Amino acid sequence: MLLSPAGVDQLREALTAARYTSSGIAERLGSRATSGLARNDFRAALRATMDRDPLATLIRLFVCGQTEPEAAVRAALAPLPLAEALAGGLVEPYGDGLRQGVDLEPYGDNWWVLSDVPASARPGRPLPPDHVLGIGGASTTLLGATIRRPVATALDLGTGSGVQALHLTEHARSVTATDISDRALRFAATTAALNGYRWELLKGDLVAPVAGRRFDLVVSNPPFVVGPGTATHSYRDSGRVGDGIAAELAAAAPDLLTEGGTMQYLANWLHVAGEDWGERVAGWFTGTGLDAWVVQREVAEPMAYVDLWLTDAGEAPDPDRIAAWLDWFDAHKVEAIGFGLISLRRGGHDDPVVRVEDLRQQVQPPMGEQIAAWFDRQDWLRARDEDRLLATRFRAADGLRLRQEAAMGDEGWVVDRQVLVMSHGLRWSEEVDPLVLALVGGANGQVPLRDQLAVLALAHDVPAEDLAEAAGPIVAHLVERGILVPVAD
Ligand SMILES: C[S@@+](CC[C@H](N)C(=O)[O-])C[C@H]1O[C@@H](n2cnc3c(N)ncnc32)[C@H](O)[C@@H]1O
Repeated sequence: MLLSPAGVDQLREALTAARYTSSGIAERLGSRATSGLARNDFRAALRATMDRDPLATLIRLFVCGQTEPEAAVRAALAPLPLAEALAGGLVEPYGDGLRQGVDLEPYGDNWWVLSDVPASARPGRPLPPDHVLGIGGASTTLLGATIRRPVATALDLGTGSGVQALHLTEHARSVTATDISDRALRFAATTAALNGYRWELLKGDLVAPVAGRRFDLVVSNPPFVVGPGTATHSYRDSGRVGDGIAAELAAAAPDLLTEGGTMQYLANWLHVAGEDWGERVAGWFTGTGLDAWVVQREVAEPMAYVDLWLTDAGEAPDPDRIAAWLDWFDAHKVEAIGFGLISLRRGGHDDPVVRVEDLRQQVQPPMGEQIAAWFDRQDWLRARDEDRLLATRFRAADGLRLRQEAAMGDEGWVVDRQVLVMSHGLRWSEEVDPLVLALVGGANGQVPLRDQLAVLALAHDVPAEDLAEAAGPIVAHLVERGILVPVAD
């Protein structure tokens, strides 16, 4: 840990007494200054904290990144001795006072998360190789996508500050977290202790520290950056070539999960010229026996990608480094880099479902519940043969909308494109033909699918058996996407 166990208790006492929590800070600063913080505009917050009582000093130090007088810092951290705070790197001498040595972020209702000071707060100073990442965009993407159902055992691979483990504590009876970096493990241990939690913290490369063990839920925001395999920063570089880390985690998943267990991780993958990126990624799950759902949320072209990650680490643009990275992409025919979430489930089926899809539209959070529902729908479908599907009554999803495109013809408007759009959740859109549209439109939960199809066959003058046969996969697809909802028997 960064501090002794007694020091962590003393720090918690200081933070609690001062009300250095999200709500305590918001109340102290008022809405205008608080909303300024979100834009890194600290002017109003600094005006509101001139009197330097303990809460004011903590806000100035750890939220606004100011250098504060030693006496004020000593008083704000008491009963934690200032000498221990300095030795643990919590604060550091700077100019004529002290400034933050770490990021100490009030998080959620009553949590604190410790991480390294971000690059943006130390302009011109590149991040050290073992920089411990704070709560960033990727962290929150995974947090929102994690299935939050109660589990016995959970694992966070590459825990860093411990933010994923913190949330796992709310719905897992035991939490294990790993990291390759000693520094990260010290931060995670301090985050756990400061919040009064006990996690099993293990050091090692990816799944090595938990070899032979299984978990009900595994989450990972790994160092997923793709490229030649150069490793300069542990928070982003795995040392694996290309998108090897994502493939490696896929291969490790079957031995890591309990029966029914779920693994969710973030990944970058390569779009290689002449290859279908989806097929390439789906190939990682061949033979794993896992249900897999991969959703691509972003796509970047190589130059923008390299630029993003060099800026992220506060690195000065180094033409040789940029050229080497881009040359590797060129040599491997990489046209773009996808980013997204991989959700895997060990369902113990002989016929696992593997879906890879582009989901770059705005989705309605939290995604975790939608992902859980997707796996539930796979179970529902798997338990039904064609006969049972035809005997099921369906209704159309709530809030379903129809978008039409029409062209002006000789006799007026001719509709040439019809798209069903889910107005909530994952906001799927699905181009449909008039027959499918009629099927969905007629799904009112009253009659079994078989009877609905018979009416449609008559109306569209097609043989009922042909329609029933063709409808199976279409209905299954619409159920998978939640567009058709089975009504309980
Ligand atoms: C992107 S950070 C994620 C931190 C945190 N879990 C989050 O969501 O914000 C990746 C973490 O993985 C760790 N890491 C890097 N390489 C690793 C490896 N080979 N095995 C285990 N952990 C690794 C890094 O030290 C870092 O803490």
